[in-house]
Amino acid sequence: MKKIVIASIAALTVTSSLMAGVNAAACTGCHGADWSKKAMNKSVAVSEMSHADIAAALKGYKAGTRNVHGMGALMKGQVAKYSDADLEAFAQTIGK
Ligand code: HEC
Repeated sequence: MKKIVIASIAALTVTSSLMAGVNAAACTGCHGADWSKKAMNKSVAVSEMSHADIAAALKGYKAGTRNVHGMGALMKGQVAKYSDADLEAFAQTIGK
């Protein structure tokens, strides 16, 4: 019984880290742990953006079509490795 419980906890942990997709820890150094920092004194506070705006921004950076503060190429490097679906899902978890 104990083994079964431990095995299912391990399975759940693996599932949720896979589902998380975007690694937020790679972002918060610039954007702040609560997303309220103006990254490199350039970006707006992501915490003030809507989920839809964040999703559009991340997909725009990935596509290379967004460059609001002259740092679009830097953000492209941050998000290019993720699928649009991952970026979309992640955008629902930050901002407002
Ligand atoms: C090295 C610092 C750095 C890292 C790491 C970083 N960003 Fe950014 N981010 C920026 C800068 C600078 C901008 C402004 C880009 C521009 O000129 O449009 C920005 C812009 C944004 C914006 C749009 C804000 C606006 O002003 O329009 C979002 C949303 C965002 N980043 C999310 C993320 C996510 C999610 C990650 C992690 C996958 C991430 N960032 C990693 C520096 C960073």
